Amino acid sequence: MRYFILIFGVVVLGAVLIAGRRGDLSRHRPIQIFPDMKRQLKLRPQTANGFFASGLSSQLPPPGTIAQEKPLMVGGNEVYSFEDSPVNTGRVTGATNFVELSPFPVTEQRLARGQQRFTIYCAPCHGQIGDGNGITKKIGAMPVVANLHDKRIVELGDGELFYVVSNGRNNMQGYAPQIPVEDRWAIVAYLRALQLSRLGSVEDLAPETRAKLK
Ligand code: HEC
Repeated sequence: MRYFILIFGVVVLGAVLIAGRRGDLSRHRPIQIFPDMKRQLKLRPQTANGFFASGLSSQLPPPGTIAQEKPLMVGGNEVYSFEDSPVNTGRVTGATNFVELSPFPVTEQRLARGQQRFTIYCAPCHGQIGDGNGITKKIGAMPVVANLHDKRIVELGDGELFYVVSNGRNNMQGYAPQIPVEDRWAIVAYLRALQLSRLGSVEDLAPETRAKLK
């Protein structure tokens, strides 16, 4: 029994010595066998630094510095690409809901641009009229392509269409790297025009034209 207590005591002491201080904070760096450049000499932001006359690590940009990126002008506001704005994400700011309407006004010019971009980027798969019968289906490269006139897709908000164009969905890849933000919205506007072209009814015609039909 005496030996048991002795051995037990040694085991407990050993365990405490080896593992007992795990989780403690230490100012000493851990032993690293393969450092892999994880620790480097560098200036940390917001810390004091004697090297510069200002005594700061983070330096202000020199006067006259010009931003690399030009913001988009949307309804009189500047929107940068890093902002959580519906313009960039298709979603309501700070939420996951998609916006119903495009932040850009639909103009004839934008529709023309959208048509041109749609023909370049979407028509190969979705077809010139968006029915999913593009060239990639004919040659058998992409057997199943969504028909953009499907009721479900017509009912998606502008923001969700923008999201699909940007990030893709299921078998479709995203086109954010190839198509700039404003062009993606132009494509959405044109896609709406395509959808509308199939959903038009006699009621949409001006009364004079309707009278001529009858
Ligand atoms: C390489 C072929 C290809 C190209 C190019 C392509 N798509 Fe698609 N797209 C697909 C396929 C395939 C699907 C069906 C995805 C699935 O559900 O598996 C699809 C689905 C969609 C959907 C439906 C998403 C949903 O909720 O089901 C939309 C909207 C769409 N595409 C829009 C576009 C637009 C706009 C462009 C042009 C910027 C484009 N696509 C370019 C192949 C393509």
